Amino acid sequence: MPQIHPLLDADTIAARVREMGREISRDYAGEEVVLVIVLKGSFVFGADLARAIDLPVTIDFLGLRSYGDGTESSGVVEITTDLSKPVEGKHLIVIEDIVDTGLTMDYMFKNLRTRGPKSVKLASLLHKPARTKVPVKIDYLGFTIDDVFVVGYGLDYAQRYRNVPFLGILELPEEPA
Ligand code: IMP
Repeated sequence: MPQIHPLLDADTIAARVREMGREISRDYAGEEVVLVIVLKGSFVFGADLARAIDLPVTIDFLGLRSYGDGTESSGVVEITTDLSKPVEGKHLIVIEDIVDTGLTMDYMFKNLRTRGPKSVKLASLLHKPARTKVPVKIDYLGFTIDDVFVVGYGLDYAQRYRNVPFLGILELPEEPA
């Protein structure tokens, strides 16, 4: 069983998510917003951030797959579940767990912009700037982290550990040379 080394505890995450909710509520005061929660990794962050936002919101889900069962991005992004409604003329806030290479969000933004929304912004819990391949503007960022593979709080390794209530670094066995 791989070891998980704690990186961000549940209280630290909760405090930052509440702050992000306050920032969003202030920036969009008087507006209606569609929160686009990216599945699967953002289901925990999305549920917490949505409850920290004091605005009239609707919530939709977009299932994307950019990773196989390993820790490296394939660079190929596939929509596994599409939004349930058109978003033309709406303010969208995409809620993502982590921006790693940026390939997934780059694809996602290009895709969403073709649907004629009024605006699109990004709220990401985590950012790994050391691994950037495509720069992505993160409008609301939780934490910047080093080039480590993290699990918990919705994030997985091979579909596991999403239910771990904190964020931790997964120690993977060395790959054979
Ligand atoms: P990107 O396209 O390389 O930016 O990858 C974004 C997606 O890769 C995220 O939405 C996650 O699903 C996954 N990912 C990237 N880094 C990690 C990590 O450290 N732990 C778990 N999933 C990750």
